[in-house]
Amino acid sequence: MKTKALIFDLDGVIVDTAKFHFMSWKALSDELGLFFDEAVNERLKGVSRMKSFEIILEVNGAEDRFSDAEKEELIKKKNDLYVSFVKTLTPDDMLPGIAEFIERAKGAGLKCAVASVSKNAPLVLSCLGAADKFDYVADAAKVEKSKPAPDIFLVCAEALGVDPAECIGIEDAQAGIEAIKAAGMFSVGINVTVTSAEPDIHLKSTSELDFDKIVF
Ligand code: BG6
Ligand code: MG
Repeated sequence: MKTKALIFDLDGVIVDTAKFHFMSWKALSDELGLFFDEAVNERLKGVSRMKSFEIILEVNGAEDRFSDAEKEELIKKKNDLYVSFVKTLTPDDMLPGIAEFIERAKGAGLKCAVASVSKNAPLVLSCLGAADKFDYVADAAKVEKSKPAPDIFLVCAEALGVDPAECIGIEDAQAGIEAIKAAGMFSVGINVTVTSAEPDIHLKSTSELDFDKIVF
């Protein structure tokens, strides 16, 4: 077997947090009189917190409405609400098939890591009781260039001591698929809204993650 490591995105791959992000951005947008809907939320998948807010402002033609300090304060407010939703997560909220897929991979001697641009990744994993399933969890705060740059996937490969060509990246966002490809890894997409590069394998849901068909 060529594959030595699996590198997972978190939001949308291990757990569905898009609804929590939606509710939190919607509350902030309503308070500020900004338009925000599911289609805009879709564009925020795999995108960092500040960049997400900048997209919402851009959609509203309000790029210059707030200073950098105000923007920092507003995204903190969004995050406080988001964290209150995250704290309701339990191990039952892991997406279907994921826990079994990881167990199978570990049994086969593969390393597993998390490459999420979320600064809440450690909290989310801890609420899911999943932190100890992974050999490495990238610290988004320390990775300068966010997805679609390959950096966070490369940081994981390096930390695991595995060549990028021996890694499979699993993502639900277009920005993430681009990052995996740019890192020189094999990409598995989970229900990606494809607007540019197609994943090497594209599945509708995590329940289709079949170790024998995907890992080579
Ligand atoms: C990504 C999500 O995983 O993390 C994005 O797909 C989110 O929607 C990003 O904006 C940053 O998350 P956080 O938790 O640091 O605000
Ligand atoms: Mg994601």
